[in-house]
Amino acid sequence: MRSLQHSTHEILICADPAELAREAARRFAELADVFVRDVGKFSVALSGGSTPKAMFQILAEKPFANSLPWQSIYFFWGDERCVPPDHPDSNFRMANEALLARVPIPRENIFRIPAEDEDPHRAATRYEETLRNFFKEETPHFDLVFLGMGPDGHTASLFPKSEALHRNDRVAVANYVEKFQSWRITLTAETINRARNVIFLIAGADKAPALQKVLEGTSDLEQYPSQLIQPYFGALLWLVDEAAAALL
Ligand code: 6PG
Repeated sequence: MRSLQHSTHEILICADPAELAREAARRFAELADVFVRDVGKFSVALSGGSTPKAMFQILAEKPFANSLPWQSIYFFWGDERCVPPDHPDSNFRMANEALLARVPIPRENIFRIPAEDEDPHRAATRYEETLRNFFKEETPHFDLVFLGMGPDGHTASLFPKSEALHRNDRVAVANYVEKFQSWRITLTAETINRARNVIFLIAGADKAPALQKVLEGTSDLEQYPSQLIQPYFGALLWLVDEAAAALL
């Protein structure tokens, strides 16, 4: 593992996806222990896609499975595909099978996005209400938000040139994604940037060109929405593997 210092954030480069997953699990556990010790609870928004799965599987095993304060950890999602929770494309389903159903978390601690609602706008509004009820504040402050990044520079479901990039008046929105001809529900950049910790998990050579643009390129928020993630007061960590960091 090696790190690249940067003025506003930390970039940690792991040898491969396995080391990245171990380091992500370690960081999750460390933050969970600190927040539960200090404030009695820990709120985390999970990312979707494939990269977090290995981390979830590590957390579902010893030592984490029987040492983390699961009863005080509250799970949310950064985004979701508009499918039922048992659908193969569901981010909830992936996290549930790889982690949540395998460790002693009270089901009432799990707040999935109701993305099966045939009206995606209503699904986003229902999720916002859930967040406001839990956080008891107009805009939630997550303790930790995990994010991934696509080869096109998107993060959560904030896709290039899409409507949601401009909806900082909302906590979460429905976002139509032209290339998939489908809707997604996503936290807005505004909500993500209010988090106390944000961790990007990025692996694979196909991500290298976009990662170079996002971290070292000129500012182009429309083309590279991951550049929108600049936490106001929280810590930002880019946890990447050597293949993704090849052009840095
Ligand atoms: C989703 C995500 C999305 C994901 C990236 C990276 O629902 O797809 O939340 O933002 O994190 O597309 O996906 P991979 O980890 O599969 O490369």
